[in-house]
Amino acid sequence: MDVIEAVKRRRATKAFDPNHRISAEAKRVLLETSALAPSAYNIQHWRVVDVQDSAVREDIRKVAWGQAQVTDASLLLVLCADLDAWQENPPRYWATAPQPVQDFLLPKLDEYYRGKPQVARDEAMRSLGLFGMALMLVAQDLGYDSCPMDGFDFDAVARIIGLPEHYAIGYMIAIGRGTGNSWERNRIPVADWIVDNHF
Ligand SMILES: Cc1cc2nc3c(=O)[nH]c(=O)nc-3n(C[C@H](O)[C@H](O)[C@H](O)COP(=O)(O)O)c2cc1C
Repeated sequence: MDVIEAVKRRRATKAFDPNHRISAEAKRVLLETSALAPSAYNIQHWRVVDVQDSAVREDIRKVAWGQAQVTDASLLLVLCADLDAWQENPPRYWATAPQPVQDFLLPKLDEYYRGKPQVARDEAMRSLGLFGMALMLVAQDLGYDSCPMDGFDFDAVARIIGLPEHYAIGYMIAIGRGTGNSWERNRIPVADWIVDNHF
């Protein structure tokens, strides 16, 4: 499937076949390929909780407006960010870059994030957004549908998954075999949001 086709086919799917099981191989391809998404300073902030336990899925559904995707999709991934990833052995993020690049970037990275929690959070959320889009497009290519979700009580989900102190939840993505979408997609015209040169 080409990228344009995958983008066109992806929908925020509400109904999934609850009996479908995704293969371990498809899951491996999905996760490994999606991790090729770009991230700020290559920090790869994503820490993904793969919720397989049906009882935990039920608990999350209760705090997610009862949305059926949570329990019925083959995969429920809670996309979290490690807000301290920037200071957790950063040389590993640039290990394959030439030495002069490493020497330039590593001090820059520290300067960019240290003492700036809002910057760390913003960057982590940007990276999670790109990672999630990669997940949904790769899923599409593998024949799966998906639904990005933030319709849930973040504090309650944080408690359920035991979110560590310096982590934040971005959103969840449900992935599985969709059983059809009930309405046509709708977008405002490009002319309503494209701006030539400046506002
Ligand atoms: C951050 C985010 C959160 C969303 N949360 C939910 C959600 O909780 N439940 C849901 O059914 N759809 C959710 N959506 C899907 C949007 O409603 C959907 O993408 C939009 O209506 C456009 O439809 P389409 O994706 O099918 O083109 C979310 C999308 C994003 C990007």
